[in-house]
Amino acid sequence: MTQVVEIESRGGRAGTTLLEVDHVVMNYTTKEGDVSAVEDVTFDLKNGESLGLVGESGCGKTSMALSLLRLLPDNGEIRQGRILLDGEDLVELSEEAMRQRRWRDVSMVFQGAMNSWNPVYTVGDQIREALRLHWPTTLTYTEETERIAALFEMVGLNSAMIERYPHEFSGGMRQRAVIAMALSCNPKLIIADEPTTALDVIVQDQILKELKEVQAELGMSIIYISHDIAVIAEVTDRIGVMYAGKLVELGDTLEVFHRPRHPYAYLLLGSTPSITGPRRKLSPLEGEPPNLLDPPKGCRFHPRCPFASDRCKSEEPPMTDIGGGHEVACFHWEEVPEIRELSK
Ligand SMILES: Nc1ncnc2c1ncn2[C@@H]1O[C@H](COP(=O)(O)OP(=O)(O)OP(=O)(O)O)[C@@H](O)[C@H]1O
Ligand SMILES: [Mg+2]
Repeated sequence: MTQVVEIESRGGRAGTTLLEVDHVVMNYTTKEGDVSAVEDVTFDLKNGESLGLVGESGCGKTSMALSLLRLLPDNGEIRQGRILLDGEDLVELSEEAMRQRRWRDVSMVFQGAMNSWNPVYTVGDQIREALRLHWPTTLTYTEETERIAALFEMVGLNSAMIERYPHEFSGGMRQRAVIAMALSCNPKLIIADEPTTALDVIVQDQILKELKEVQAELGMSIIYISHDIAVIAEVTDRIGVMYAGKLVELGDTLEVFHRPRHPYAYLLLGSTPSITGPRRKLSPLEGEPPNLLDPPKGCRFHPRCPFASDRCKSEEPPMTDIGGGHEVACFHWEEVPEIRELSK
């Protein structure tokens, strides 16, 4: 293989910081008022690390992802905060400078992406186009083909498929090809928003496992987004739990999965089948998420929270490190029961 074909990581040394999301606030302007979709979110990501973002529909996961990529719709705006990638603030970049970083530095795999292939070109040629736009040097046609074939092999597709059209691929194969495209320019970070949700469970499982292997091999960083905490728990190092635009818990995956300290995470896990065992028996998560046009004062979760006190109605609990990098935004985290023993 030539230098160009070699699929290698551009990520920095494992364990050093790649991404710092620093007090980011993102709103959508609508006729009814401002939608508070991302509210004061702070987290970081190391080189080679995989982070999962979970939470109910509408809690702001996709809004967070689109903020990181600066791909917000016209009515969406980052109002505050910094998004540092290798120390450079993406929020401050010009549109053109940001465009150069997409695909090359940060790429994405979205839920419906497998349906976005253009039916009149081969899948290989569409990846070739991405390479021509974003690869820093000019490659020969043969070099491009070799690279695309190597990417296909890497994501579990036969390299002969690069000459086929999208309709010749199954749904799972099309989504694998989307992943190959996301990998094509050796990004430092991939953001995968519900990458396998539209696929059946077995294909979903296979693709996630392969993506995890590719990530380990290349040492890149990944942010996985899913409403399904069990799926996220299998493939990530850390988990962040979002509720109504806020990050309410962040920590090592096993720690958050087996010992959630935020009441919302606790109840969310209670309504999720465990990885290995049957559905855990906890009290159910009742009520609906709030309207983000007018979120509750104090802790946004307090109207649904069995642990809430008067303080929670007026005061917003800050994210607090409760040890070992496990952070939680709750005044009552110590009252939340252990669920470890119920997970079997
Ligand atoms: N373009 C938009 N204009 C106005 N409000 C929006 C827009 N896009 C999203 N929202 C609102 O922002 C909030 C966060 O939505 P977002 O899509 O980020 O949630 P999500 O966690 O990705 O949900 P899901 O699990 O359903 O994908 C929701 O209240 C949603 O209605
Ligand atoms: Mg979403």
